[in-house]
Amino acid sequence: MLEAEIDGDRLNDSEIMAFLFLMVVAGNETTTKLLANAAYWGWRNPGQLATVFADHSRIPLWVEETLRYDTSSQILARSVAQDITMYDTTIPEGDVLLLLPGSANRDDRVFDDPDEYRIGREIGSKLVSFGSGAHFCLGAHLARMEAQVALEELFKRIRGYQVDESNAVRVHSSNVRGFAHLPITVEAK
Ligand code: HEM
Repeated sequence: MLEAEIDGDRLNDSEIMAFLFLMVVAGNETTTKLLANAAYWGWRNPGQLATVFADHSRIPLWVEETLRYDTSSQILARSVAQDITMYDTTIPEGDVLLLLPGSANRDDRVFDDPDEYRIGREIGSKLVSFGSGAHFCLGAHLARMEAQVALEELFKRIRGYQVDESNAVRVHSSNVRGFAHLPITVEAK
C-alpha cells in the first residue's frame, strides 16, 4: 500500500489508515458472521445438512447457500451522483440510497423458492452478497476460502452438533447480520 501507484497517484497516510479500518470491519465481522450463520441454518435444516455430513465436498455449496439465504452484510449505502429514474420513481441527486443485497438474494424472479434453504441450488453469478461492479468485495475469494477451511476442519472432527438457540445472541446492527454468541455442542468423532 505504501508503494502502490496508479498514474502517479499514491495513497496518503489518512487513506491508508481508512483502508486498514475498512479491512478490520470488512474482513473480520463478515466472515465470522458467515460461519455462525452457516452453522445455524444448517442446524435448522437437518435434512440439508445431512448431505454435507455425508459428503464434505458439499461444504462450498453450504457456504454459498448461506451467503444467499442470510448474508452477513445486508445493506449497502450509496450517494446519488445525479437524478435517476427507476420504475417511475425519480431519486434526486444528493440523496442517500440504501441497497439491500439480503433482499435481492431472495428475489423470486431470480431464485426458485427463495425462502427455502437448499444446499446445492443453482446460484452462480446471481449472488449479490459481495456487491457488484467497481466496489465488488476485495475479499470475496478469501471469505469463501476461510469459511470452507473452517467448516472442513470442523467436520473432519465431528459427527454432529446441536445449537442452543435459547442462549443465542444476535448482533444489534443495522447492517451486519449474524450472531454475537451462538452456543454449540458438538459430538466428536
Ligand atoms: C462473508 C464475507 C464478506 C461479505 C458478505 C462481504 C461483503 C462485501 C460487500 C457487499 C462489499 C461491497 C460494498 C459496497 O459496494 O458498498 C464489500 C466490499 C469490500 N470488501 Fe467484503 N465481504 C466479505 C469479506 C471480506 C473480506 C474477508 C475482506 C478482506 C480481507 C473484504 C474486504 C472488502 C473490501 C476492501 C471492500 C471494498 C472494495 C471496494 O470498495 O473497492 N471483504 N464486501
